[in-house]
Amino acid sequence: MSTVPSLQDRRIVLGLTGGIACYKAAELARELVKAGATVQVVMTEAAEAFITPVTMQALSGRRVFTSQWDAREANNMAHINLTRDADAVLVAPASADFLAKLAHGGADDLLSLLCLARPRDHCALLVAPAMNREMWSHPATQRNVAQLRHDGAVVLGPDTGDQACGEVGDGRMLEADELRDDLIAHLQAKLLVGKRVLVTAGPTFEAIDPVRGITNLSSGKMGFAIARAAQEAGAQVTLVAGPVSLSTPRHVQRIDVHSAQQMHDAVLPLAAAHDVFVATAAVADWRPATFAQRKIKKDGARSAPTFELTENPDILAAVARLPDRPYCVGFAAETDDLARNARDKLARKNVPLIVGNLGPATFGRDDNALLLVDARGERQLASADKLTLARELVREIAERLQAST
Ligand code: C5P
Repeated sequence: MSTVPSLQDRRIVLGLTGGIACYKAAELARELVKAGATVQVVMTEAAEAFITPVTMQALSGRRVFTSQWDAREANNMAHINLTRDADAVLVAPASADFLAKLAHGGADDLLSLLCLARPRDHCALLVAPAMNREMWSHPATQRNVAQLRHDGAVVLGPDTGDQACGEVGDGRMLEADELRDDLIAHLQAKLLVGKRVLVTAGPTFEAIDPVRGITNLSSGKMGFAIARAAQEAGAQVTLVAGPVSLSTPRHVQRIDVHSAQQMHDAVLPLAAAHDVFVATAAVADWRPATFAQRKIKKDGARSAPTFELTENPDILAAVARLPDRPYCVGFAAETDDLARNARDKLARKNVPLIVGNLGPATFGRDDNALLLVDARGERQLASADKLTLARELVREIAERLQAST
């Protein structure tokens, strides 16, 4: 299985400034290393009051830099050397004071120096503000943040909620996994900027009575990965999800449904406003013709109940029939003869692209293999984790979208 960690070969400078959120930076360093990045930690003097370089060195596996006078670099220019082969500088936490300094081009310590001296064309600056809510909402801070955005910096968060001081409001630093995912997204190719992508995912649940129903083994992982990959590529993404226990990808708008009919009713009014529709959901083909209002009881005297089934609406085919339809991508979960079944579906659903996968081999798992079937022919995406495959699929869709316009 070819799995490429999301930050493989990426070099990240992780800057810490003074704030209680420094405790989250330890976890963040770990997450970035786990995702494959080389992490070079740089700390301000104030950050050292909250967490030690010893901790950050152990977690990043590299010696930490804290001073512009550090003589370890042969040319004595750490403020230049540290960013020349870096993909991004991520300052987390970024204090109000540090944001003010950056906004004015201040450069009186190593971290602010290297932010100013970084090669802006290939080394992004991302800041994760962390401060008390009054400090965050203060016009001076808001002015500085607007200036930083104007200068090309990316501002991650802040979040809202409980603060270390006991107050509640905006200014909490995002969590380590959120910062990791935002950084990963920032570094992905922006192939779908300005596009709107609608994705269905998961199984549907067709109720028999208040406690029972018909469903299937789809976990929703493939569809959620596609929603994430599309968002990372710059698209605005709506995800209509059947009953699954997965967390929503960052910055994706999620609509939860249960039954195929609900999924249909959620998707149809939205479809025409989207550029791409990816029908990943394993929609139940049939539902019980009637719903029993009370739990159907086992009754010793009676034989087992029988259920009449009625067909569910075909969501993909309905979207494909719309006069101003988006670019439609269907999935085919099969047990055999993938290519032939996928090609049949291409014609039957009248869509430009069908993605085939083997249902029993992928349902519930983290990996998959995809067979893309369209008018041009077939293309196999070899076995990999679902996010890697989703990113490849998004590339394929973007390419076709470009060709069709
Ligand atoms: O018809 P079949 O289930 O074989 O086709 C699978 C494709 O059609 C998938 O993309 C699935 O999401 C979509 N589909 C749908 N509505 C249905 C059944 C399938 O959108 N009722």
